[in-house]
Amino acid sequence: MSLEELNQKLKQQHLIDYWTIPNTSTGFREPEANYGPFLWKWNEIRAALDDAARFVRPEEAFRRFIGYQHPELKLGTAHTLLLGAQMVRPGEFAPAHRHTMGAIRFVVEGRGAATVVKGEPLPMEPGDLITTPSWTWHDHKNTGDTPIIWLDGADGPMLHYFQAGFAHPLHEAQQPLTKPLDWCRKTYGILRPHSISTPTSNLYRPPYRYSSQDTKKALASMIEAPGDPYDGILLRYSDPVSGGATLPTMNCEVQMFRPGVASSHIHRRLSRVSRQRHDLDRRPEICMGTRRFVCRAAVELARP
Ligand SMILES: [Fe+2]
Repeated sequence: MSLEELNQKLKQQHLIDYWTIPNTSTGFREPEANYGPFLWKWNEIRAALDDAARFVRPEEAFRRFIGYQHPELKLGTAHTLLLGAQMVRPGEFAPAHRHTMGAIRFVVEGRGAATVVKGEPLPMEPGDLITTPSWTWHDHKNTGDTPIIWLDGADGPMLHYFQAGFAHPLHEAQQPLTKPLDWCRKTYGILRPHSISTPTSNLYRPPYRYSSQDTKKALASMIEAPGDPYDGILLRYSDPVSGGATLPTMNCEVQMFRPGVASSHIHRRLSRVSRQRHDLDRRPEICMGTRRFVCRAAVELARP
C-alpha cells in the first residue's frame, strides 16, 4: 500500500491524515478571525423597537428583543456573544425564566422599571449595568411611565457551540420578591454580613447592579489620571466576590477618552462588542484593521 492509498483509505473511513496538513508549528502561530468588524446604528435599532412594540407583546412573545446578527456569522454579534436591544413599555412585563446563558443588561433609556434576579428587584436607570448570572431566575417589569430600553448581552453563541443551552420557564409569570432593594450592594460591600459565605467556586457570581452613579463617580475620580497608553481610562465592572471578570464568560468595561486624547498605540484585543457613546460635538473615531468608524451619538460595534 502506498501512502497515497493509505490517505485515500483513511478518508473513506472518515479518519483524518493529519500529516497532509501543512506544518506551521515551527514558528509563532496566532488565530485568525473569520469575520470582520461591523457597526449597527442605534437610530435604526431604536426605530425598530418602536415598530416591534406595535405588534409584539413581551407577555406573549416572552421578549421584545432585537438581536444584532453579524452578517458574516451564522449566529451572534461576535462568535461567542450575542448583543441586542430589548424594550418593555409601561405596564408590561417579560415573563420569568432562567437559562444556562449568562447575561448582562446595560440600561439605555427609561426609568421606573426593574429586573428581578433571584428574588431581588434591581432598579433600571440609564447607565446601570445589571448582571443575570447563569441559571438565575429573572424577569423584567416596567411600573414606570416611559419605555425602558436596555442592551442585552449574552454568551448564547458560545453555549450553542457547547450544545449546553438549557432554558427553563417559571411556572408563574413573575417570581416573588424575596429580597429588599439594594440587597446585592448591602451583602457584597467591603463590610458584609457574616452570614455571606465565600463561594467555593471561583465561577460563582451573584446578581449585581452596578449603578450609573457609581460608574460616573469612578470615572470622575480618574479624570486627572494619565491613563493607559492603549486604553485611556478603562474600568472593569469587577465581580464583587473575586474582583475578577464580571461573569465567567463575559467581562464588562467602561472606557473614557478625554477630549483630544487618542490611544497612542495600535493594539489588538480579543472578541469584543461595545456601545460607543459621546456627549460632545466632536465625533470619536475607532480604527480597526483598514476600516475607520466615526461614532455618532450611539452605535454598537463588534470586533473579532
Ligand atoms: Fe433571559
